[in-house]
Amino acid sequence: MLTRAKLKSRNRVSEKIWHLVFELPFEQEIYPGQFFMIKIDEGFEFKHPFSVHRFSDGVVEFLIESRGYFSRSLSYLNVGGTAQLTGPLGNGFKAKEGSSVLAVGGGIGCAPLAMFECLHYKARYLVGSKDEKSFPGFDLPPEKTLVVTENGKYGKKGLVTDYFIEFIEEGEKVFACGPDQMIIKLAQQCRSRGTDAYFCLEAYMACGIGACAGCVSPLLREYKKVCSDGPVFSIREII
Ligand SMILES: Cc1cc2nc3c(=O)[nH]c(=O)nc-3n(C[C@H](O)[C@H](O)[C@H](O)COP(=O)(O)OP(=O)(O)OC[C@H]3O[C@@H](n4cnc5c(N)ncnc54)[C@H](O)[C@@H]3O)c2cc1C
Ligand code: FES
Repeated sequence: MLTRAKLKSRNRVSEKIWHLVFELPFEQEIYPGQFFMIKIDEGFEFKHPFSVHRFSDGVVEFLIESRGYFSRSLSYLNVGGTAQLTGPLGNGFKAKEGSSVLAVGGGIGCAPLAMFECLHYKARYLVGSKDEKSFPGFDLPPEKTLVVTENGKYGKKGLVTDYFIEFIEEGEKVFACGPDQMIIKLAQQCRSRGTDAYFCLEAYMACGIGACAGCVSPLLREYKKVCSDGPVFSIREII
């Protein structure tokens, strides 16, 4: 679905990360890992993909890390201004209602994890970032969340993969989103303990709808389009 959406609010949540809330003039089910291609009108020919952070009555939320020209311009969009949103796109993570999930995120890969709080899953969270400044701060229930930073200034010290084995509970499926190195290590850990796991992958995307064949990922066993076959892939599809 293509829509021109109005920016309702914009807040800085950490040094480089912004929380944007757009009005969404239609209702649709959205699953963790699904994304929108966003196009800002002025001066931008291309759309870029952003995971849905949360959605609720008439609004969709994103966490935007200001990395380069596009994301910086998006994070400075004025409240009341509009952007073109195409989505929700991709498969997203779907499991039986009430399933137990350990949602693991690294850096801006934490953005889609909050979706589990909008849906009927029993979710716990293992989230990590480089330091407290790059932590994509948002509310997850503290009693169900373990926070890890590389410098240890916020939460435990280290990488999420250092705590994964001790934190995961029996019967939990894993949903993970983050840098490639985190995904590779987690896939190895899940494989060695026989855990059912799903990984939300990043790739450069031009169209976002399966038309250009541009979104390859070195993490997949065979060529698949990250935008339309994914971005969520099961552990059996990961190298
Ligand atoms: C399915 C999906 C969901 C995403 N969700 C989010 C999200 O919720 N929040 C968010 O901030 N970003 C998300 N991204 C990444 C986002 O689309 C890019 O960071 C953004 O388009 C960068 O554009 P830019 O012009 O600002 O940066 P550029 O100037 O193009 O690049 C800045 C830096 O980011 C790297 N980069 C750019 N695009 C990507 C990419 N797609 N994958 C990996 N590295 C990239 C470049 O190599 C460079 O180092 C997502 C990407 C995908 C594929
Ligand atoms: S981005 Fe065009 S096919 Fe995936």
